[in-house]
Amino acid sequence: TSTAPEAERLLGWYDRHHRDLPWRVSPPMRARGVKADPYHVWLSEVMLQQTTVAAVKPYFAKFLALWPGVNDLATARSEDVMAAWAGLGYYARARNLKKCAEAVAAEHGGRFPATEAGLKALPGIGDYTAAAVAAIAFDEPAAVMDGNVERVISRLYAISDPLPGSKPAMKAKVAALTPQERPGDFAQAMMDLGATICTPKRPACALCPFREDCRALAVGDPEHYPVKAAK
Ligand code: ADE
Repeated sequence: TSTAPEAERLLGWYDRHHRDLPWRVSPPMRARGVKADPYHVWLSEVMLQQTTVAAVKPYFAKFLALWPGVNDLATARSEDVMAAWAGLGYYARARNLKKCAEAVAAEHGGRFPATEAGLKALPGIGDYTAAAVAAIAFDEPAAVMDGNVERVISRLYAISDPLPGSKPAMKAKVAALTPQERPGDFAQAMMDLGATICTPKRPACALCPFREDCRALAVGDPEHYPVKAAK
């Protein structure tokens, strides 16, 4: 199966406009054979779940300085991990982080499982984190969906069924578009596009690699999507 033309356009955009983030291996580095560190990818994805990129950066650096590898985090004192997490919020994430590190150390010899299913079996790893780590760290063509990706995909296909009911249909669209080659870059490109171009208000459609493909733009109403069920 080859890469869809839309996915090619997105990857070309990402090659030019990707954000340089501390947990990322950029496309040129990847082309030179540098691989993402699963521990870095996992740690950053857990931190990014309810927190912005700007807020996560200093915490990510602090955690790596204190605990450079997953085995270090596994043997850390829980009080120290909770103290280092202070300020990031959603403290269940920090407790789960520690539990997951312990399981990777004790049950997997300190190496993260390399498949979406293997990752999901770990404590504290849900659908999103399993898919993101599988795609970004292990190049598995897993469908990665967060709020940014929901917005991009709902506009690209003008999905008018409301969230949350439309989630499975959106995930199927993401899965169909996810390429066998560079699935990790594809996932991160979708998130960057949602964060920088396909924004909730006043999206920069003129700069979007999907401008010729986007159904919502074709009918002139990108801001209408994603449609949400009335509360
Ligand atoms: N948000 C969550 N994970 C991300 C990633 N890997 N790149 C950009 N934004 C993200």
